[in-house]
Formats: sequence, structure tokens, C-alpha cells
Amino acid sequence: MKRTSAGTLGTEQIGQRVKLQGWVHRRRDHGGVIFLDVRDRSGLAQVVVRPEEYEDAMKALDPARIEWVVEVVGTVSARAPEAVNDKIPTGQIEVVAEEAKVLAASDPVPFGAGSDVESGEETRLRYRYIDLRREELQRNLMLRHRITTETMNYLDEHGFLNVETPILTRSTPEGARDYLVPSRVHKGEFFALPQSPQIFKQILMVSGFERYVQIARCFRDEDLRLDRQPEFTQIDLEMSFIDEEEIYELIEGLFVRLFAHANIEVKTPFRRIPYAEAMLRYGSDSPDLRVDLEILDLSATLEGSSFRAFEQVLATGGTIRGFRIPGAAEASRKQVDKWAEVAQRYGAQGVLPVRQVEGETRFQVKNVLSDDQLTTLRTDLALEDGDLGLIVAGSPKVAAASLGALRVHIARERGLMREDDHEFLWVTDFPAVEWNPDEDRWDALHHPFTAPRDEDVELLGSDPGKVKARAYDVVLNGFEMGGGSIRIHRREVQSKMFEVLGIDAEEAQERFGFLLEALSYGAPPHGGIALGLDRLIMLMTGAASLRDVIAFPKTASATCLMTEAPSTVAPDQIQELGIRLSRPPGAAES
Ligand code: AMO
Repeated sequence: MKRTSAGTLGTEQIGQRVKLQGWVHRRRDHGGVIFLDVRDRSGLAQVVVRPEEYEDAMKALDPARIEWVVEVVGTVSARAPEAVNDKIPTGQIEVVAEEAKVLAASDPVPFGAGSDVESGEETRLRYRYIDLRREELQRNLMLRHRITTETMNYLDEHGFLNVETPILTRSTPEGARDYLVPSRVHKGEFFALPQSPQIFKQILMVSGFERYVQIARCFRDEDLRLDRQPEFTQIDLEMSFIDEEEIYELIEGLFVRLFAHANIEVKTPFRRIPYAEAMLRYGSDSPDLRVDLEILDLSATLEGSSFRAFEQVLATGGTIRGFRIPGAAEASRKQVDKWAEVAQRYGAQGVLPVRQVEGETRFQVKNVLSDDQLTTLRTDLALEDGDLGLIVAGSPKVAAASLGALRVHIARERGLMREDDHEFLWVTDFPAVEWNPDEDRWDALHHPFTAPRDEDVELLGSDPGKVKARAYDVVLNGFEMGGGSIRIHRREVQSKMFEVLGIDAEEAQERFGFLLEALSYGAPPHGGIALGLDRLIMLMTGAASLRDVIAFPKTASATCLMTEAPSTVAPDQIQELGIRLSRPPGAAES
């Protein structure tokens, strides 16, 4: 007899004999009768075990507890009207067990896949195989499968070839630390795990493949957050002979196809917002457009006030910005202090409220703004009676970051965010490089292979900060879903870029000589993008963390609680690698 999937049973099967194999999800004993919910990948069905009719079935199933694996053969029957459960798809029927056996017993479980008790995340990660039985995680991983399959289909239709690139490789600069793998054969030398397949995909373009795709695993040793894992997956693309417009169109089309699987309608074309505008109006390079609150530059209006804090900030190249919160004039001092705490996390000194009450504009600090300034401030912020303006003075970076965080925080708090919307956009016109004051050098905003705009190539030598890159990010609801660029395909421009980034000719040759060489042998113009697959699934499912869409994720401290990786290794293994530990495993850094 063939197995039937429990979740597919319904009233059409009433009277049929079926065989279920699955896990005991729940068990209830009721007047000598046992009710078991038997669960498999498709869902669950209720099994009734009646001792007076089917004694052997009862004998077999009586010991079964939660998460035991059982086999039940029985007849599908209609439930008594009072036992119908409309909440589950199989709630109209039950299977009357006629024959049964236990396929595998289970030790008492730390938590059941069907239990309502919220187990701590640590326990769930330690027993990941049980946690993965939960419906939510099963659903997330099934959607993930659907999405990768659909992605490959779509890109195949668009002429892309799936090519695998190495995992044991050289450092690929994406701005994080590398995970290193020591070589046994070449003692003292190391492979690096790829932060992305960036250089390989470019070289595939030099090799004439024209369109490349890979569902690529990437490794980055960086500080973790809910939307970051040390090992994660990209939908990685590269194309020859294309421009930005073709990439936008391709990716927008892909999103329409993919999000349909999560019943989310994607409107195209996406909005496009230049980086500088995103930073000013939304205080972020990945703005959440579900929030209407927009930041305004108030520096010109507030210049020349007798408020020292403003004057000091403006005199030192700082800026004054703010945004309007409709109907918040009544916000208490305590409330404003809480907002200030948020701003302080991003380096701001505090926040200054301006209230519009009874036709009057009242700034927190009395007698420092002229009447004209108050009137202009009101117009700038478009304050209506009952509104509150929130102002931050500081460096452009601090003003943007703190107000950017506040607009989202406050929108959530006050129900001003359209939580169910999906706001896609492209952020464009990034600067190619940004000054790193700590290291006293220019850093690439994306990576060193991003092409400058043709008209800006000259500026690379004279004024790098002014050079705009042919780079773009795709953003959804405040998350960077992907980033890419048109690449440098001329060797001399690539050499120049390395020079700007403080990588001298010798170092460039040592680290990227093979790429520079490849660019000298007929490199076509090319460009591409990588989408964060994990983030994509997280936003599609509404999961709170990447951990809920990755089968075997790492903790915030980059460990796997199930396998207990990373782990120490046998001393002879270390010796074989030609490595000596400077302190015993686990010892703290001195
Ligand atoms: P980038 O570094 O922007 O670009 O990465 C592309 C996308 O990958 C996702 N992502 C991550 N997801 C989870 N955990 C992480 N630690 C993590 N880091 C990045 C993000 C991000 O937008 N080679 C370039 C792409 C290109 O230029 O074609 C690159 O890797 O969603």
C-alpha cells in the first residue's frame, strides 16, 4: 500500500483506506480512546485509535509520544459535527486506525514541533532538527526552494549560464574580514573563502560567457545583525555588453516573478533615488519608503540664530535637519527624551522639538530664534497646528543617521508606517569612494572594480571625492536587497582606481595581478548585481531574522550550536598545517 500525505486528506477521501507515515504532533487521551495528530511535510491529520474495535492498533500506538514516528493504516471518516476543526485544512475528517506500528521512538523532546511553548532560541538552535519540523520553518524553506528554482528558470530563459566558482580562493575585497583556510601542502599559506564571486564572474565575462548566474555562498567575518550572517547566499549575476537600464529591467522582472510566489504584487518600474537625496531626505542609503516622514535641511533657515549649539555646528561644517511628526505637539518631555536616546545611539547630542500650537511656533529653547526664523521654520517643516518638528544638529553623517533611524522608529511607534506595503527602489549615483578618516585614505563605497562614470574618469586623479560610480542598490522596506555596478573593463582605469584607494602598483600586482592581466586580453564592457537571497526570503515571509529562513544558521557570535562549530582540532592536525597556536584554544586575548 502506498503512503498518503496527511495534509492532503479531505472529505473527498471519506471511505478510502490510507496509509500515513509521520510524526506524532499532538496526543490526547480521552475516555480510553487516543487521538493523535500525525504530521508530515504536507500538514497533519487526526488519527483516532479505538481499543474496542482495533486492539492491535491500540497496542502499537499506546506508547507513542510526541515526535515519535508512526505508521497508521486506516479509513478516512467524517468527524462528528462537534469535532470539526475549521482552523486546519483536514479539520473535517479523521483517520480511524486499523493497523499501526511505531517506526521510530523519540526520547522526550525539549520542545515539540507543535507545542505552543516558546522555547528559547538557544535551545531551538541546539536542537535545530526538531525546530526545523515546525510549520513556519518548513514553509520558509519550501518557499526558499521555490524561489531559487524560479530564479534559475527565469535567468535561464534570459540566456544565463550557471557556472560554479571556487570556494578555496584568494581574498575578494567586499569590505569584511576574510575567513582563512590554511594550506597543508604550502605551509604558511592560506586560502580565503570568497566574500563574493566578484572577480571570478568578471573573468567569466572576459572568457566570453556573456551571461553568468550562480546561487553563490559567500563568507564574511563581520559583526552580525539580524539581517547578516557570516555565511549567506547571493543570487549572483554578471552580463557583458549591457548598461544600467538593462539590469534594472531584468531585476524588476525577476522580482515580479519571485514575489508572486509569496502573493506579493510588485509594481514596476521601481522608483530611483540618487544616493545624496536618499541620505538627505531619508537619512539612509537604504530608505524605508513605507514611511512618509521626510527629512529637510534647515541649516539656511537657522543660520545666524543666537543659539550657540546651532552656531557651533554650522561653523564646523555641520548641518541642521529635521522632520515633521503630524499631531505630535502634545508629546511629553519624557517622550522627547526617549526619542533623544534613539538619536544618541547614532552619535547625536540630542533632539530639539519645535511645537506648532494655537497658531504659534514654539521652539524648545526660548528667545534664540527670530520671528522670521520661526516663520520660515514653520514653512520649511510644513507644520500645521498640533504638529511637532524634531531637529538634530550635527555632522552630515550624524544628522542623517540619527534622523533616519528616528523617522522609522517614530513611524512604527505612532502607527504611521504602512507595514504591509512593499516599497522597492533603486538607489543610484553613489560616490565611487568615501574618505576614511581613521585610516587616512579613500575607501571604495562598493568595491574597487566599480566603474566611475565616463565623464568622471579624469577626476580620479584630481578630486576622487567628486567621482560618481556607475553603481546601484536595490532596496526593499529599508533593507538593501542587492547591489551591483557596471565594472571597470579597462586595465589603466582599474590601475588608477587601485592607486586612488592607496593600493600601490606592487600590491595591486600581488593581490589582483591576474585580474589586471585578464583585463589586458580583450575584456568586454560588463556589469552585474548580487541579490541577498536570505534577505529576500526574510522579507517575503515576514520573518524577523535571517535565522528563520536558513536551515542551519549561525548565532550572533558566529557559532553553530548544533554542531558546536567552530571547534578545536587535534594537535597533530594543527602541526600538519605548520601552524603553532600562540595561546591555548579558548584562552582570551591578552
Ligand atoms: P554586496 O556586498 O552589496 O555586493 O552584497 C550583495 C547583497 O548580499 C547581501 N548580503 C548579506 N546577506 C546576509 N548576510 C550578510 N553578511 C550579507 N552581506 C551582504 C545583501 C547585499 O545587498 N560582489 C558584489 C555584487 C556586485 O557588485 O555584483 C557584492 O557582493 O543583500
